[in-house]
Amino acid sequence: MYIEHLSLTNFRNYARLETTFPKIPIVLFGANAQGKTSLLEAIYYLATSRSPYTTSDRQLIHWRMQDDPTPFARLVAEIVSASGVYHQLEITLLLENQRFKKVIRHNGMDKRVMDVVGLLKVVLFLPQDLALVEGSPAERRRFMDTTLAQVDQTYYQALELYERVMPQRNALLRRIAEQQGSIQELDYWDEQLVQAGSVIIAGRQQFLRELEHDAQRAHYDLTGGSETLTLQYLPSFQPTAEGKGQLSFDLLGMDLHRQISPEDIMPQFAEQLVAERAESIRRGATLSGPHRDELRLLINTRDAGLYGSRGQARTAVMALKLAELEWMKARTGDYPILLLDEVIAELDKARRAYLLERIDGKTQTLLTTTELDIFSQAFMERVAVWQIEAGQVTKLSG
Ligand SMILES: Nc1ncnc2c1ncn2[C@@H]1O[C@H](COP(=O)(O)OP(=O)(O)O)[C@@H](O)[C@H]1O
Ligand SMILES: [Mg+2]
Repeated sequence: MYIEHLSLTNFRNYARLETTFPKIPIVLFGANAQGKTSLLEAIYYLATSRSPYTTSDRQLIHWRMQDDPTPFARLVAEIVSASGVYHQLEITLLLENQRFKKVIRHNGMDKRVMDVVGLLKVVLFLPQDLALVEGSPAERRRFMDTTLAQVDQTYYQALELYERVMPQRNALLRRIAEQQGSIQELDYWDEQLVQAGSVIIAGRQQFLRELEHDAQRAHYDLTGGSETLTLQYLPSFQPTAEGKGQLSFDLLGMDLHRQISPEDIMPQFAEQLVAERAESIRRGATLSGPHRDELRLLINTRDAGLYGSRGQARTAVMALKLAELEWMKARTGDYPILLLDEVIAELDKARRAYLLERIDGKTQTLLTTTELDIFSQAFMERVAVWQIEAGQVTKLSG
């Protein structure tokens, strides 16, 4: 898929932007704080309805709207899928009577977020992603979730439900501890949590199994065949194919090659939640479930987060990101848009060359940089260069 046209109104420091996109890679070039990242953020937001940076949509609206009675920001993308189908996707954020609203339109018709999931798909690669392997488990869960939620509506809905139900259940657990709530009330929340959680666990297991193959291939290439990458899914609640699942500390993680369906997981997960109720009430928290899942990356069977060098960990992340592109293509028939924020400058020459070569001609790519001389002459000749200055785009070439 590719974006043909993008229009931004009052999004971050873009008061107004109207621009057509070429299919060749677009290099967004400019000094710091000019709006390069914000442009990628706009595309990411159109794809996921979330910002990768902020949890408050308010921050996305241009400051010049601050004193306006009805502040708003609007993002519109015209997208063409691999099969040639045209879509117009529009998101308007507005503040009305102190209430924040998000209006989504697809080809002019009002839609819910979940209806437009997958219309625009992106893979975002940030400099901080290079620390994905050594970073916190939450970042690796987010990696799985943003990828899956873009291509799988069921997963998207399950994730949304899970994230909504969890705090409510935890609040109830604390009320019960203070003798202000009843244990029976837990049944309702447990049922929701189990349904959503089981879809998430099954989805992650399948995702990692499918991803591993491409990740392995890219990693093999990047290391000249000297290293083997494996993915290890360590769900906090580990269902077993035979049923009767329980919290397991099996170091091998979940068997990625033996698919378990959400229906298989549900009764086991429900049983586990009941078994640990007393402890959950004491601690005021839900103790097992996908919110505590772990994904580990192993290089030659050693945990890269614990024992790998920084370079090895980075190579693994690159392999993972390239695999993410291929996985989305395999799952949906369409390559996502690739957004690379300042990543190229962070890579050494060999990794840089491999990345640019692998994405060539496959996906629409936008990459940001403060310097142009990090790219080869040959690369510069087949890309578009846009200069970004104070929320304005000037097309220099391409
Ligand atoms: N809501 C907003 N309204 C106006 N400007 C904003 C808003 N949010 C952030 N900015 C500003 O937009 C500028 C562009 O930031 P960014 O896209 O991160 O720049 P770059 O990636 O080019 O370094 C920054 O100066 C930032 O302070
Ligand atoms: Mg930036």
